[in-house]
Amino acid sequence: MDRLLDGRVAFISGAGSGLGRATARLFAAEGAALVLLGRRIGRLEEAVRDVAPADRLLTIACDIGDFRSVQDAVARGLKRFGQIDILVNSAAILPPRGALVRTTPDEWDRAFATNVSGAFYLMREVLPAMESAGYGRIINVTSGWSCDGAPGYAVYAATKAALDSLTRSLAGELAGSGVDILVNALSPGVMRSDMWPEGRDPEEVAMWPDVRDPEEVAPDLLRLATLPTGGFSGRIVRHGEPW
Ligand SMILES: NC(=O)c1ccc[n+]([C@@H]2O[C@H](COP(=O)([O-])OP(=O)(O)OC[C@H]3O[C@@H](n4cnc5c(N)ncnc54)[C@H](OP(=O)(O)O)[C@@H]3O)[C@@H](O)[C@H]2O)c1
Repeated sequence: MDRLLDGRVAFISGAGSGLGRATARLFAAEGAALVLLGRRIGRLEEAVRDVAPADRLLTIACDIGDFRSVQDAVARGLKRFGQIDILVNSAAILPPRGALVRTTPDEWDRAFATNVSGAFYLMREVLPAMESAGYGRIINVTSGWSCDGAPGYAVYAATKAALDSLTRSLAGELAGSGVDILVNALSPGVMRSDMWPEGRDPEEVAMWPDVRDPEEVAPDLLRLATLPTGGFSGRIVRHGEPW
């Protein structure tokens, strides 16, 4: 039986844990070749060891906040597989909870370097290959806090607002350009993951009635990665809502 991603090559950042990991496993099961990025290569390998055959897998230790590292990673992925069909920007960091007035400039810089610059670098570097192939699906993982705001998490919320804006702007640039490249963002809702350690605490879970596992959200990314030609672009969709 044909799988949904047979013949596709997907780059996934932050694939060593959480939503990136669940997405990598789902995409592997659907036949994609994977280029997985994260700072800890051991976690990338462990994430998909049992589901991704070696001939469809490349793991690269890469700090996406470093432009040269991203350039190198994209070049290695292209050399290995010859194409880039899908980019999932899932890597991000959540600075410690705290009032804006006590947030340090260093925390601000680090959050923007990963959550915004990293996503920008990856989009910038994969686009030429997508444009010459005339096909691409880019999905940025955002947060409901990007538009709602998040007292105590102002910097993180601001990074996700920037990511939403990049998503819309790039989609607008590509609309009508004749290439079948769609750019969207997914807001996954609260998930149990390394990023949200409170999510593993039963008391905290009780405060958030709607907490889910990343495996419940990954099918949304598959759906966005397989949107047909002429599908929507520039949209910020939320897990659990109709779209
Ligand atoms: N969890 C939630 O409740 C929630 C809610 C809304 C939105 N989100 C969003 O969902 C996405 C996935 O989050 P998650 O919950 O799956 O968190 P996670 O388990 O912490 O995953 C984040 C991944 O990003 C990687 N990463 C962090 N900084 C990096 C860098 N500079 N370069 C390369 N990789 C980096 C981490 O691996 P290394 O440390 O090995 O690099 C990690 O595997 C994020 O965009 C997050 O903002 C999460």
